[in-house]
Amino acid sequence: MAIVELKNVAKRYGSSGNNAVDNFNLTTRDGEFVVLVGPSGCGKSTTMRMIAGLERNTGGEILIGERDVSEVPPKERDIAMVFQSYALYPHMSVAENMAFSLKLKKRPAAEIKAKVDEAAQTLGIEKLLDRKPRELSGGQRQRVALGRAIVRSPQVFLMDEPLSNLDAKLRVDMRAEIVKLHKRLKVTTFYVTHDQVEAMTMGERIVVMKDGEIQQTDTPINLYEHPANRFVAGFIGNPSMNFLRARHASGLLEGEGFRLALDEPHARTMASRGGDVWVGVRPEHLTDAADERCHVTGEVEVVETLGAVTVVQLRVGESIVTAQLAGHRQIAVGERLTLGCPSDKLHLFDVETDDVIARGSVSAMDAVTT
Ligand SMILES: Nc1ncnc2c1ncn2[C@@H]1O[C@H](COP(=O)(O)OP(=O)(O)OP(=O)(O)O)[C@@H](O)[C@H]1O
Ligand SMILES: [Mg+2]
Repeated sequence: MAIVELKNVAKRYGSSGNNAVDNFNLTTRDGEFVVLVGPSGCGKSTTMRMIAGLERNTGGEILIGERDVSEVPPKERDIAMVFQSYALYPHMSVAENMAFSLKLKKRPAAEIKAKVDEAAQTLGIEKLLDRKPRELSGGQRQRVALGRAIVRSPQVFLMDEPLSNLDAKLRVDMRAEIVKLHKRLKVTTFYVTHDQVEAMTMGERIVVMKDGEIQQTDTPINLYEHPANRFVAGFIGNPSMNFLRARHASGLLEGEGFRLALDEPHARTMASRGGDVWVGVRPEHLTDAADERCHVTGEVEVVETLGAVTVVQLRVGESIVTAQLAGHRQIAVGERLTLGCPSDKLHLFDVETDDVIARGSVSAMDAVTT
């Protein structure tokens, strides 16, 4: 276990172009599970490869357990990696695959056997130790790849989209396995995904990245309730937050097809601002209970009946607004629908910078008690 610190870390490939990673600052807790999430090309793998020592950072410094590792080669960083292409050695058995790194380190045979057995037991693959990789299912191979990392008892785990080769059901099972494994082993872990559900369910903290830069580092619930900008707001949460361009005047936000009255804290924040803002409202916060003060009206374009919820898309002026209503609703395409929205669930963003101006004022505690 170790604290990993990244201070102003940057990576530039070659001599021209933008930095693939820029100004990356993060200090983990000892044993923390940190998820890096963001769209393709935002610099997640580059960050992982720099921590591993497979890429040299071109700016800033990386410390593992208080030691600056800039000059330390990968194999001396005490890190184990599980990547998407976790190629197992096809001619070796599961046990031999798992033992390989310890054999290279010339550890005694008894110690290797004990470690492999223990890891196999942790992962529930004791019965597979004599098989070859081709005789395993995708999920079993994934476990072997994890086992290969575990036997090394590293200070830090780096996992870069380790589940992306698995089908949806297996992914859900494996992500729960990895979380359980982390609770047992308590090894500081960096986990990369571009799946925001995976990020939300696995991360103790999540780093949301875009274009090589951190947008926000926070707990899952804070990212959901208090996104720092429009990118994070739209990226975290499914279906995505709706954004409506509105004009603000004395506590009212108005646009074609909607009228939203601000609650007291929002109104105070907005008092000195006129002009346009982006209003963000999550689909699950819209309701079909009438609300005089806060409502959105439009024509229903799509109705998705999922059983537990009904997802509706409304055309509101130029925008499409998605609403997720609890239960099964009888709503017809073409119908005009008015949806209410609690004003304390609105998020307001600057139209120039996309940064948050005022945000959902309900804290996690309030939400539980109300
Ligand atoms: N070896 C390289 N040489 C030059 N540019 C690179 C190299 N590796 C990555 N890049 C660029 O750096 C940026 C970040 O890439 P990176 O692989 O870190 O993204 P990522 O967030 O892991 O994306 P994905 O989700 O697709 O895996 C991209 O613009 C990519 O094209
Ligand atoms: Mg990647």
